[in-house]
Amino acid sequence: MKKLVNVADFRARAKARLPKIVFDYLEGGAEDETGLRHNRDVYGQIRFQPRRLVDVSTRTLHTSVFGKPMAAPMIVGPTGLNGIFWPNGDLALARAAGNFGIPFALSTASTSSIEAVAKAATGELWFQLYVVHRKLAELLVRRALSAGYTTLILTTDVAVNGKRERDLRNGFGLPMRYSAKTFVDGLLHPRWSLDLLRNGMPQLANFASQDVQDAELQAALMSRQMDASFAWDDLTWLRDLWPHTLLIKGISRVDDARRCIALGADGVILSNHGARQLDSAIAPLTILADTARNAGAPVLIDSGIRRGSDIVKAIALGARAVLLGRATLYGLAADGEAGVDAVLDMLKKEIDTTLAQIGCASVQQLNDDFIRRGGRRNDAAHSNAIAESI
Ligand code: GLV
Repeated sequence: MKKLVNVADFRARAKARLPKIVFDYLEGGAEDETGLRHNRDVYGQIRFQPRRLVDVSTRTLHTSVFGKPMAAPMIVGPTGLNGIFWPNGDLALARAAGNFGIPFALSTASTSSIEAVAKAATGELWFQLYVVHRKLAELLVRRALSAGYTTLILTTDVAVNGKRERDLRNGFGLPMRYSAKTFVDGLLHPRWSLDLLRNGMPQLANFASQDVQDAELQAALMSRQMDASFAWDDLTWLRDLWPHTLLIKGISRVDDARRCIALGADGVILSNHGARQLDSAIAPLTILADTARNAGAPVLIDSGIRRGSDIVKAIALGARAVLLGRATLYGLAADGEAGVDAVLDMLKKEIDTTLAQIGCASVQQLNDDFIRRGGRRNDAAHSNAIAESI
């Protein structure tokens, strides 16, 4: 079997194992998918300015975020429907993250429940909240709290669902509907189909319990529409409900980041939802340096990270940690928990090698002095302009 040496190799293996309808859901972006490319391009435009003759004989990736130690500045980020990529996909991701020493963030749209993941996990758990309905959101938050989750992430960029044209063409939805086309797709991907036959069709597991069975909540769930009226005042409501770390995800502006912190959030996650919502949204990296300087609280980032060097760039520009989406899902879809282990290990080695190459012994010593773009040094006077022109 071909040796897999980077995230792109895992992507190819995932593509080979998954039916097209499932791979398209994992891979797809909104509308023309220009955002997918853009999220990658901005990382490619950043270049390092290595320091030489620095002792890098021992290096460390250890860091801490919100007072908690982490083996590397990464979090396995929240992604929905993980069970369609691998049986009990959420459990595999949670275990791999825990064994590695980093947090796993469970999506509201998970296919294993809040409680089942808490039981299986070996490490720190975060919970991502979609507000479909206020009453339902409150129930989910209380469940996450009593199951021991340490951090709540409120996702704010899904007032409506993005127009994902691959999914529209393929008729993707849960439960997956059978047609002649999906049947043939399944036959062509027998390993995936056998796993599905053995384990059954994944369900949105957080909505199966008794407390969410009332008619009003079921109607909200069936419509799969987020509560588009959720606004700044409601953030205060959520802040009062959750006593631990609260992060706001989907932020694309410095003023919004500052307002989140002013209203009591502990940090923000810059994100364009992996280019799955608004195709022409800015890549979050574009405003990272500016936000990190001005938010007044830790800034995390996702969207487009496929290499350890991308992670080093994000940390150097001010992120405290990155969230991984597709990168770890490729590992999951290719080889389950072992695939996630392998992707995390690869990223760790790439971060370590990059640190040695740029002359920095620790991720905690990274700063924008290591970054250069367009022939100008990225010093304090220039870093803002450069970050904005990325
Ligand atoms: C869920 O958040 C998705 O992007 O599919």
